[in-house]
Amino acid sequence: MIANTKTAAIRVGITGVGSCVPDEIVTNDDIAERAQTSDEWIVERTGIRQRHVAGPGVAASDLASPAAERALARAGITSADVDLVLVATITPDMPFPATASVVAERLGAGQVAAYDLQAGCTGFVYALTQAYATIVAGLARRVLVVGVDLLTKYLNWEDRGTCILFGDGAGAAVVEEVSDGGFLSFELGNDGSHVEDLYVPAGGTRQPATAGSVAALDHTMRMNGRQVFKFATRVMVISAQRVLASAGFEPADIDLYVPHQANKRIIDHAVRELGIPEEKVVVNVDRFGNTSAASIPICLDEMLRDGTVAPGARVLMTGVGTGITWGSALIEWPTDGNNGGSV
Ligand code: ACO
Repeated sequence: MIANTKTAAIRVGITGVGSCVPDEIVTNDDIAERAQTSDEWIVERTGIRQRHVAGPGVAASDLASPAAERALARAGITSADVDLVLVATITPDMPFPATASVVAERLGAGQVAAYDLQAGCTGFVYALTQAYATIVAGLARRVLVVGVDLLTKYLNWEDRGTCILFGDGAGAAVVEEVSDGGFLSFELGNDGSHVEDLYVPAGGTRQPATAGSVAALDHTMRMNGRQVFKFATRVMVISAQRVLASAGFEPADIDLYVPHQANKRIIDHAVRELGIPEEKVVVNVDRFGNTSAASIPICLDEMLRDGTVAPGARVLMTGVGTGITWGSALIEWPTDGNNGGSV
């Protein structure tokens, strides 16, 4: 799917962003012995130094709700002003109902529409696209988009191929009509032939949880790291090129590049191929690890709070995740886009 927004009757953009991560920080040294790895190996191969990890009893909605409250406050609205709550996650509170239902209730949003969307680490970009389309179609005026994942809950902490990579977190954005700037183009894709390169075998309808599946750790993540690495590096570049071409831009026209924070080596490869200068690239994977659907909105929140994004800045976001899914969104940051984030 690819589209530019030139023919849309209204401009739609992001007017408020917020995020939330658990307090507990787990460093590479904290996991090195159990996973038979080292800080040096992890930093060299991934760029990750630490991650935030949710404790027992903390669920997706516990991070999503505060992130959403901050985004609403920064947009200068309340949950009563929202028409749809859209939560991108692969780590919901429960198999059902949707975590969006829990979040809407926690926010006091009343009887708004609410549903979850599952596209792995690309979930936030997919959800932005849906929010945009829903507003342009006239079905909603304001959509609250949340990207939240607690992938540490699906880790086998003795599997050094996976446990080193992930952290927990949530990021949220209010999407609505804006007076200038806004989304310029989107590109979404998926290649389902890679399903088993990154998946959780049990706990769904294919293999419901049993004592045996739990004993076999089939409810934890399995990943073919090399395959994911190869595919992700290629598709990050292709998706960015497509979304830029669709809007009539070159990589040189971009002010800020916000790639999914999976691995510094994947980011470096994309940056090299696209020819985007380092100073335009946003990286926080060293402090948060891969927070999946939360990674891009956590970056946006940091960028707004430290003043990296100014109105008029052209921001390119690209995600890649389990599926394998990918997606890019190009936005010109609007003047009414919570610049400063004082809340
Ligand atoms: N510490 C020490 N050694 C390790 C570790 C570790 N943590 N992990 C693997 N190794 C070893 C392997 O056992 C192997 O040893 P061997 O040669 O004796 O067999 C060697 O290192 C090389 O293994 P590879 O798997 O080829 O290591 P690679 O360089 O590919 O790095 C990594 C592994 C970091 C997982 C890399 O493949 C990667 O980053 N892949 C992408 C994963 C990813 O980002 N997934 C999420 C993206 S999608 C989403 O966000 C949902």
